[in-house]
Amino acid sequence: MLERTLSIIKPDAVQKRVIGEILRRFEAAGLRIAAAKMLRLSPDTAARFYAVHRERPFYQDLVRFMSSGPVLVAVLEGENAIARNREIMGPTDSTKAPKGTIRGDFGTDVEKNAVHGSDGPDTAKWEIAFFFSESEIC
Ligand code: CMP
Repeated sequence: MLERTLSIIKPDAVQKRVIGEILRRFEAAGLRIAAAKMLRLSPDTAARFYAVHRERPFYQDLVRFMSSGPVLVAVLEGENAIARNREIMGPTDSTKAPKGTIRGDFGTDVEKNAVHGSDGPDTAKWEIAFFFSESEIC
């Protein structure tokens, strides 16, 4: 099924200058970059994006981390894009992510994990609309 998913290249990966390498991996995996922009999230925007986690103990740290530097947000499109992206990212905790996955190669720990990807079709829809208008998606 042709799907779209939201990707965020997080501040840790931007600072490591691996945006190009991560985008290359998306494309090599058959995902098309349908939209992309660089942003510095305000704490308020990061808090709204991650509102589903607001009761979690890591929420405040996560909001601080995500607003600590620029990010690149992108819409990826392809067959089973949501699951495909999750495979190439690897598990949330970078210390448990195999080498060869984006988090295994570029993440540091469970918070500084290089990339975000939508976890299902409903979230993908919501997350894409959070950052992009229809006219910005090619
Ligand atoms: P992400 O896929 O963007 O979804 C929520 C984020 O919260 C996650 O990646 C991590 O950056 C962060 N996160 C998830 N679990 C933890 C945790 N146990 N401790 C700290 N940060 C976490």
